[in-house]
Amino acid sequence: MKNILITGGAGFIGSHVVRLFVTKYPDYNIVNLDKLTYAGNLANLKDVENRPNYTFVKADIADLDLMRSIIRDHRIDGIIHLAAESHVDRSIRDPFTFARTNVMGTLSLLQAAKEYWESLPEGFNGKLFYHISTDEVYGALQLNRPDGVEAPFSTRASSERELAFGTDFFTEATAYNPHSPYSASKASSDHFVRAYHDTYGLPTIVTNCSNNYGPYQFPEKLIPLFINNIRQRKPLPVYGRGENVRDWLFVEDHARAIDLIFHRGKVADTYNIGGFNEWKNIDLIKVIIKTVDRLLGNPDGYSLDLITYVTDRPGHDMRYAIDSRKLQSELGWEPSLQFEEGIEKTVRWYLANEQWVNNVTSGDYRRYYEEMYSNR
Ligand code: NAD
Ligand code: DAU
Repeated sequence: MKNILITGGAGFIGSHVVRLFVTKYPDYNIVNLDKLTYAGNLANLKDVENRPNYTFVKADIADLDLMRSIIRDHRIDGIIHLAAESHVDRSIRDPFTFARTNVMGTLSLLQAAKEYWESLPEGFNGKLFYHISTDEVYGALQLNRPDGVEAPFSTRASSERELAFGTDFFTEATAYNPHSPYSASKASSDHFVRAYHDTYGLPTIVTNCSNNYGPYQFPEKLIPLFINNIRQRKPLPVYGRGENVRDWLFVEDHARAIDLIFHRGKVADTYNIGGFNEWKNIDLIKVIIKTVDRLLGNPDGYSLDLITYVTDRPGHDMRYAIDSRKLQSELGWEPSLQFEEGIEKTVRWYLANEQWVNNVTSGDYRRYYEEMYSNR
């Protein structure tokens, strides 16, 4: 495979995937297709933008004719599809944009790929449409262990499955049960991808990943928002009681998994990606506070007073936890970073890149943020 289309490459995870592919595969032509919404920033790719095997195309994935011509003009062999509206809170306020991009956009891309590949003498041979999805499509897990043993709320969950916050995990066989407009739109796009395989034979793969964190994440998501707010001595809005649990994975480990699955994954298959790294929000927030305070030279506990409990997110899923043993045993992938290292790296990056934060949070986002918190 030579000509690879990566959609959403100017966003958080996409920029890490583009960087990995452009540097690791000098023989591939990497085409980064992105609409550059508020979440897409070409500044995320400054270090690779002049590489000879990299091209950027500004386009909306929901524009079917444009998808047809881009895929044909660049003679695309493989697609790694990340472009999406990705923030749950925004989906609650504006579900239509999520349906348009995540559902209709994915459908347009599928149709354009199918038409182009069908027109070639080799057909679908050697082609791949790889869709990046989320664990949120599976719904929410219980917080307590079904056997009644109380979960270890005051400590971080162990990566040992049996000691975690519950005994149930999302596997590749878990039935879809999305709750938010975001997860409903991602579930719908996953179904369309599988339908294009089952109906037309399009070679597809879907992966469902847990919460990512790391450099270049837009500071509306929990970890970068809180790092930034602590730095500015702004309140830290904890939804509800801060007891919801998420399973966190360093973004470069997700990018490595995508590379592996793109090259060695089984067509028509699904892989779950996660770090066996569950944290209750409030415990994670305390780790962030501790790390930021230490790196800023503040006394331990200095920023704890910024914690502000606010009205809960409507329909807030209680717990996500991914069982990624299939990926580990079939393809030999493992997360490379301990969570403590990942958080340290992430906090250091945000503190050193204040200008990036200021640039991406100007304008539209500032208005959205002010409106969002004016009534909580
Ligand atoms: P992001 O919001 O940081 O980036 C999304 C990118 O898509 C942006 O560059 C944006 O400009 C682009 N985009 C949006 N609408 C577009 C359109 N209509 N046409 C073309 N480009 C468009 O998102 P992210 O966190 O990097 O997530 C990337 C993908 O991974 C998404 O599909 C998301 O559902 C999935 N995912 C994210 C996480 C996570 O924790 N962030 C976890 C699992 C799966
Ligand atoms: O699980 C994968 C998903 O993870 C991805 O598919 C999404 O694209 C990504 O945004 C993320 O979704 P979450 O809703 O879990 O991430 P977020 O960072 O928005 O919130 C993490 C947790 O923190 C969640 O329980 C809500 C809570 N939260 C979030 C924000 C922004 C707060 O308590 N306060 C906040 O200000």
